Amino acid sequence: MGEAVKITVVGSGYVGLVAAACFAEMGHDVICVDNDESKVRLLNDGGIPIFEDHLPILLKKHLNSRLRVTGDLHSAVEQSDAIFIAVGTPQGSSGAADLSYVEAVVSQIARCVNGYKVLVEKSTVPVYTNEWITQCMLRNRIPRKNFDVVSNPEFLREGTAVIDFLHPDRIVVGANSQRSERLLRQIYETLTSGRYYAKGDSLPGPLSAEKPATLLATSAQSAELIKHASNAFLAMKISFINAVANLAESVNGDVEEIAAGMGLDSRIGAKFLRAGLGYGGSCFPKDVAAFSWVAQQQGIDFHILEEVRKINARQQDVFFNKVRSALWTLRGKKVAALGLSFKGGTDDVRESPAIDIVKRLLDGGCTVSVYDPVAMDRAKAVLPPSRDLHYTAGPYTAAEGADALLILTDWAEFAQLDLSRLKGTMRFPIIVDGRNLYKPGHMFEHGFSYLSIGRPAVDRIPVSTERRLALGVPNVTTAFSRPESLQPLGDAGSPTS
Ligand code: UDX
Ligand code: UDX
Repeated sequence: MGEAVKITVVGSGYVGLVAAACFAEMGHDVICVDNDESKVRLLNDGGIPIFEDHLPILLKKHLNSRLRVTGDLHSAVEQSDAIFIAVGTPQGSSGAADLSYVEAVVSQIARCVNGYKVLVEKSTVPVYTNEWITQCMLRNRIPRKNFDVVSNPEFLREGTAVIDFLHPDRIVVGANSQRSERLLRQIYETLTSGRYYAKGDSLPGPLSAEKPATLLATSAQSAELIKHASNAFLAMKISFINAVANLAESVNGDVEEIAAGMGLDSRIGAKFLRAGLGYGGSCFPKDVAAFSWVAQQQGIDFHILEEVRKINARQQDVFFNKVRSALWTLRGKKVAALGLSFKGGTDDVRESPAIDIVKRLLDGGCTVSVYDPVAMDRAKAVLPPSRDLHYTAGPYTAAEGADALLILTDWAEFAQLDLSRLKGTMRFPIIVDGRNLYKPGHMFEHGFSYLSIGRPAVDRIPVSTERRLALGVPNVTTAFSRPESLQPLGDAGSPTS
């Protein structure tokens, strides 16, 4: 049961490269294939096209031994028993997933079949894709006895993908034959038996030899639905807490405390209750749309998914109104923006709320100085430097002379800024935090006006209630008794002398 399996992974992106490296780490013989020659060359020269924790260690350990990277799909398929398809499944115009890359790869695989092969859907695909892949193989005249199609969806979070792969909450195998299910069980045996975790050099994580991985075997359709339903549920949880945040703010509540109170209920759980700028990334937006499209195609009422999307889209307006209420006018203002990736821990800027906010600031006539620890190169490809957009070497450089500083991505380093140094370098001590990295009282004590999501604003430079309401930001009072030195505002909206 534990012997090595010959595996091909097609696609060396955030999913495929992690899967290939982890399969090698699990003891299998892996060939990772990509049709992007520059990626293949970079990897074989020792480079890594994506930022993922632990990936450098695994590639250094296994590249050119258990793991090979090539552009030659033909020879890879001929040498392999299992072929994992991990190419992009981007959102199409109708909301449906664009499966053209998947179909292209399957057609190429069909031309290389030299014996029994198991094609494995690793990419996130809508239900019944396994049927389409089967049809595509048959249409390419591959006898039905020479292949099976299995769904083995990934549940990797970018930034923690390697640990998520080797220490999974669950492994889902959707197989429609005993033979193919047996092969997938063999591939994951080292995790489900706990053997991997007993090794001296295994990557540490929540699982162990005593608490090995769980493998859930089901039909291919159910496995495809588990993936879409899981992502849609997580997205719904985020939109739910963002809606609660907006309500909380209108009554001077604190969404962080509300989330803590909700999360103590084991049926709700504390995870994925962080209010913020709304979800982004290459998965949630497209998977919610794809799941909604599947339901529509099946004539099933799943309108809640539309509400999930709407709340998420609106969250950026909520944040942007806060920025406008803090700055009043945008034109000519200098704004510092910390964070460009769609979340902390990754260099991925696909569907990043941070990128959208920076674009809106530029459209509003601001000069923006940005900093992100790893995502600036990828961001420059979608937001090139310009007269009004400056990429800087660090958060304090970005903050120099700024009228306000925005926190757009939850990088750990942004939660540990030297506030005195920051206050000394900014033109005005105003922070608008889209990720709730600080406590309002702490910021008030450090002399900042601090606006965040779902919590009362604290103003060192008070704003007129009329203007705040005119901008659609609920009229919140300061969370703390105002020191004597700060008088109430005059009508003009500027501090009385
Ligand atoms: C993507 C989606 O984001 C994810 O939801 C899905 O589960 C898997 O596909 P990701 O790894 O982020 O995951 O995709 P991407 O970063 O676009 O990488 C896909 C790779 O496949 C690219 O390197 C591309 O060059 C390669 N590819 C694409 C092929 O090798 N052959 C093809 O025909 C098409
Ligand atoms: C997600 C799923 O978690 C993963 O299981 C699936 O395989 C791929 O899609 P990923 O998109 O990499 O992973 O990141 P995730 O950590 O889920 O965050 C997604 C988005 O939600 C990010 O923009 C993040 O900032 C946001 N988020 C997450 C919140 O706004 N609040 C939260 O509490 C958690």
